[in-house]
Amino acid sequence: MHRVTLLPGDGIGPEITAATIVVLEAAGVELQWERFEAVGLAGMERYGRPLPEAVLDSIRMNRVALKGPITTPVGKGFRSVNVSLRQKLDLFANVRPCRKLPGLRTPFEDVDLVIFRENTEGLYSGIETYDERLEIADSTARITRRGSQRILRFAFEWARVNGRRHVTAVHKANVVKMSTGLFLKEAIAMASAYPDLDFDHRIVDNMAMQLVQRPAEYDCIVTTNLFGDILSDLCAGLVGGLGVVPGANIGDSVAVFEAVHGSAPDIAGQGTANPTALIRTAAMMLRHLGERTAAETIEAALRQAYVEGCWLTPDVGGSSTTMDFAHRLAERVASKQGEA
Ligand code: NAI
Ligand code: MG
Repeated sequence: MHRVTLLPGDGIGPEITAATIVVLEAAGVELQWERFEAVGLAGMERYGRPLPEAVLDSIRMNRVALKGPITTPVGKGFRSVNVSLRQKLDLFANVRPCRKLPGLRTPFEDVDLVIFRENTEGLYSGIETYDERLEIADSTARITRRGSQRILRFAFEWARVNGRRHVTAVHKANVVKMSTGLFLKEAIAMASAYPDLDFDHRIVDNMAMQLVQRPAEYDCIVTTNLFGDILSDLCAGLVGGLGVVPGANIGDSVAVFEAVHGSAPDIAGQGTANPTALIRTAAMMLRHLGERTAAETIEAALRQAYVEGCWLTPDVGGSSTTMDFAHRLAERVASKQGEA
């Protein structure tokens, strides 16, 4: 039995979370959820805080959480709960595997990228000021040597353990010489400790162009917070969109699993969001919990669903609802579990 903190989130969050739980139940893993609904705007309304301390305590205690997206007010209001959570729990590595599902029609056949996004510093450090008199806004992109080293080590280790060949560090050290220059310097130093892996580095704007023209030439990408945020949505676009790409926030002792996408207010409440990204995220969580067979069963059922191409959601060319997709997938998962 695994105790897991569950944050369904808002927008499409509760819909895709319900769908994911249906699939997890079919996989037969015993999960005991500690559920928190009042986070983000709902937390503000109920407790006057977007991220109640009880949520952090629960995640620290259980060491694992599954999280739906949480809406952040734009340009004003409370700080992003998603960013706060990563910083308060020191979840320094954001891992986002972008791999095409068979059957999905995308511009490239053989994209299989993993983005390692530094998750606690850079332009998301939260060091921001506004000088009313001079009308000047500052946001500090703080990068530390230690912060760079740990995400780089994490990426190289992950690449080695998972049989990957190639790591690319992405930066903007030609212009932003101090902060991303430090990251690049540490990347080059770290690469020398991994002679078994190919290493190169790219300036972020060029990288964006390379990724839309020749994505198959890249394998693992490690980068600072903002660049990782942007490039992971770009890479999601290469493999079928935000509806299908999972993610994990990993620290030394705690992990919070969440998809790349946000709360999708444009489709929230319609029951048509794609739960695939969160279901793949849950499969990553199962691997983390040592439940490899269940994770593989879910991943195999997903591949089968996409090859067959029926009962998919609208974002990937189908016309099914979130829950229809989940129930059909759950049937496949349960029958595969029966065979195993
Ligand atoms: P978004 O990722 O929510 O949506 C971008 C586009 O992708 C929309 O057209 C949406 O309908 C579509 N989309 C996203 N997930 C989908 C899914 N599962 N199935 C089908 N279509 C999907 O990004 P947006 O609109 O920029 O942000 C909305 C809100 O989400 C903002 O408040 C933002 O701060 C928050 N956000 C939260 C994140 C988190 O909780 N980790 C991550 C990213 C954004
Ligand atoms: Mg993002």
